[in-house]
Amino acid sequence: MYAGLEALKITDHVYWVGAIDWELRDFHGYATGRGSTYNAFLVCGERIALIDTVKKPFKGEMLARIRSVIDPGEIDYIVVNHAEMDHTGSLPEVIAEVAPEKVLASSPCVKALQDHFHLTGGVQAVKDGERLSLGNLTLTFLETRMLHWPDSMFTYCEDEKVLFSQDAFGSHLATSRRYADEIDPDVVKFESAKYYANILLPYSGLVEKLLARVAALGLRPAFVLPDHGPFWRRDIDTLLGWYAAWAEQRPERRAIVVYDTMWGSTAAMAKVIGEGLARTGVETTVMPLHGSHRSDVATALLGAGALLVGSPTINNGMFPTVADLLTYLKGLKPRNLAGAAFGSYGWSGEAVGEINEYLAGMKVERAGEGLKVKYVPRPEALGECVALGELVGRTLNERCGA
Ligand code: FEO
Repeated sequence: MYAGLEALKITDHVYWVGAIDWELRDFHGYATGRGSTYNAFLVCGERIALIDTVKKPFKGEMLARIRSVIDPGEIDYIVVNHAEMDHTGSLPEVIAEVAPEKVLASSPCVKALQDHFHLTGGVQAVKDGERLSLGNLTLTFLETRMLHWPDSMFTYCEDEKVLFSQDAFGSHLATSRRYADEIDPDVVKFESAKYYANILLPYSGLVEKLLARVAALGLRPAFVLPDHGPFWRRDIDTLLGWYAAWAEQRPERRAIVVYDTMWGSTAAMAKVIGEGLARTGVETTVMPLHGSHRSDVATALLGAGALLVGSPTINNGMFPTVADLLTYLKGLKPRNLAGAAFGSYGWSGEAVGEINEYLAGMKVERAGEGLKVKYVPRPEALGECVALGELVGRTLNERCGA
């Protein structure tokens, strides 16, 4: 079916043999408007290793690309850097077809593969720092636990200066071009940031430790090859700098006002609160949840210093879209935010209190208990909205030393 698809030669001995998913629009709750790739790689030394596989429906595409270089039966080893099914869905069938001498993974990955595919053996655990000889080339395995699963691992080929970084440094971006330096830099940065904000943000402390470890090991890869999106060669220091900044989450003078609305009152509050923030010099983005995907709010929040959340009260609680967003954001564990809750209500008004609970869970420095307005805001209530925006803006300015 996929005859004619080809591998991409990256170095003398390394080839991309992955798959392009132009259709993907949702990745477990993350809107992937530009699709994605599932990257897999051949390392062709005197012995041959396949680094990672692809999502199950893309097995044929990967095997076709492999066949453009070698017969798949020549693969001696399959290295599994990460157990998640976008990289392993095809693994059992690939193992059956290729019959490699060994399948290698971190010890948590061995267990995860057993639990995913009910394998009864056949995957060998490798330790952090362990090496695999391919004859004229050597692969080194580096455990990167919780970046972003317990099983996650990097594989490094010192001879070719290639780092196979699985999900880390990736992006959901399907393109006909494979290298980041061949693609619109604004698109590359946006999709890399979106990936970080939605996948790696909760593990920012570990990202900082990983960057320190990479520096301490003296790794100077010439190529960083993630399992999603484009590859890195010329701008690796830029990429590492982005990760260092995103992991630090030092607040910038930017605020996100996010809300949903029933009859326009909470929308009016959001707009005016945004005006108050802007008056303090804080760059402010107002995002209606009817039209802003949760993963785009998370992306906008990366590096922002304030989060203000508004909801009307419906059936004694938050609007469903607001509850969805807050559940998602709480799991991403953003740090260093100031903020506030607000919303219009008719008679019971629980939504603001519920938002406050989530903001407290995210350790947001809140400007009081928030602002509730009955039904439609009068001019004096809109004045309170401006004041709330200004208060949060001043707090953020103090935090930023402005
Ligand atoms: Fe791309 Fe965590 O899987």
